[in-house]
Amino acid sequence: MRQLGTVAFYFFWIAAATGIIIYIFFETSVNGAYRSVEYMSNDQWYFAGVMRSLHRYSSDGMVLMMALHLIREWSFDRYRGVRWYAWFTGVPVIWLLYASGLSGYWLVWDELAQYVALGSMEWFDALGIFGEPVANNFLSQGSMTDRFFTLLVFIHIFVPLFLLFAMWIHVIRVSQPKINPPRGVAIGLSAMLVVLSLIKPAISHGPADLSMISQELNLDWFFMLFYPVFDAWGGLALWALAIGGSLFLAVLPWLPPVKLPAAPVVALDHCNGCGRCYADCPYGAITMMPRTDGLPYSQQAEVNAANCTRCGICVGACPVASPFRSVEELVTGIDLPHLDIKRMRTLVDEAMAKAPGGVVVVGCEHGPKVQDLTLQGAAAVRLPCVSMLPPSFIDYMVDQGAGGVMIAGCPECGCRFRYGVAWMQDRLDGRRDPYLRKRVPRERVRTFWASHIEAEELQAAAVSFQDDLKALNTEEAKDV
Ligand code: HEM
Ligand code: SF4
Ligand code: SF4
Repeated sequence: MRQLGTVAFYFFWIAAATGIIIYIFFETSVNGAYRSVEYMSNDQWYFAGVMRSLHRYSSDGMVLMMALHLIREWSFDRYRGVRWYAWFTGVPVIWLLYASGLSGYWLVWDELAQYVALGSMEWFDALGIFGEPVANNFLSQGSMTDRFFTLLVFIHIFVPLFLLFAMWIHVIRVSQPKINPPRGVAIGLSAMLVVLSLIKPAISHGPADLSMISQELNLDWFFMLFYPVFDAWGGLALWALAIGGSLFLAVLPWLPPVKLPAAPVVALDHCNGCGRCYADCPYGAITMMPRTDGLPYSQQAEVNAANCTRCGICVGACPVASPFRSVEELVTGIDLPHLDIKRMRTLVDEAMAKAPGGVVVVGCEHGPKVQDLTLQGAAAVRLPCVSMLPPSFIDYMVDQGAGGVMIAGCPECGCRFRYGVAWMQDRLDGRRDPYLRKRVPRERVRTFWASHIEAEELQAAAVSFQDDLKALNTEEAKDV
């Protein structure tokens, strides 16, 4: 479920590659098209036939992945606020994917192609904007020309190119978008598609015959769901449904609009232009600009509030954030005005005072509900994202007598802010600056990645951490 977008991309590449291969076998003419597709499925079933099936099933898979991806982003509320862009640009992707798939079905020029072509044309004719009804092209056997067929082939080549362009626009605003599934997922899915293609190959209906109306058709429900609606309700109703549905989807991010707190502010006096906030921001909301204040650094960070989700990951990335200073000197390069690092240290101090020598659980607003933890000897601090916590704060807590620090965030790969969990793990493991200093005993730091419904698991993980800390304390006391 975390890979739906990447898998949709992957299926696109499979459809593109297999499309190029089957085009070699394809004959672009009214009479040749059906014959050549039959040749692929019957005479060349072991190669061209498999390629045809892969082409069809990967396209179906794209529709399925896209639908699930849309529902997932919506149900996780990842479509409002600054994310409106990805959502909004997803809407034309739906249209282009449908246009790509349906135009492909025409090319087989079998009974199903005839049904789809005629239905689509009648649907456009319902708008009444074409002088001559386009559906007239399908009135009799002779009216379908090779030239018109060549046009269909062009449509089926160019619409997917527009689709690819739209998919690129769709992910352009997130930094380092994940567009490739992990290798295991890719290999597994490819194997599944090949097996499916062998046990249930894509086959054609009988050849198109414009003088007949087909009695029985096996619709591809992934793409052809709307044709029976058209048959039942007519063209104008389907236009109302399609345009109304698209407009509704397009404005959904603003129903209701999200109210966000103020965006992070860069304090130039404390920014050395290192660029870590820029590298870690998952939404490309930070730009490194030439220095404007005369300090001897080449760059400075600048926040674009319109792209910013207020996750605070940039605050955790800034190496200037150090809680070891006095409150007056507690400043950093980039800070969230409603939750600055002074406030963050107060929260941490309060938690340590609540559970002296115990466990401080630092959680986020979207993962396990740390605020509901009811455990003697444990206290919680909640931040927008766990990666907002600079590693120096973990050092500080252990230094100031916390028994242990538990970082409890969203499930891995399911991070609300895309890279919060990954960056935190990398900082703890020393793979990413600013990293947790070596002097912090790792036995006193633990991570727990889970969803907001895993309250019992959080409780169990905290108890187990406490037990391990007890054993550690006993051992350390023995050594002394
Ligand atoms: C074939 C179609 C689609 C593909 C291949 C696709 C792919 C992707 C990818 C790769 C991402 C970025 C994932 C990441 O790195 O975090 C993404 C994000 C997103 N997609 Fe799609 N998408 C498609 C269709 C749609 C549609 C139809 C919608 C909704 C109308 C949609 C809504 C979103 C949203 C809201 C995000 C942003 C999530 C965030 O910011 O955390 N996508 N998509
Ligand atoms: S709060 Fe998050 S989205 Fe906004 S600038 Fe910082 S890292 Fe980027
Ligand atoms: S991480 Fe801090 S010091 Fe580095 S560029 Fe960003 S604000 Fe400036």
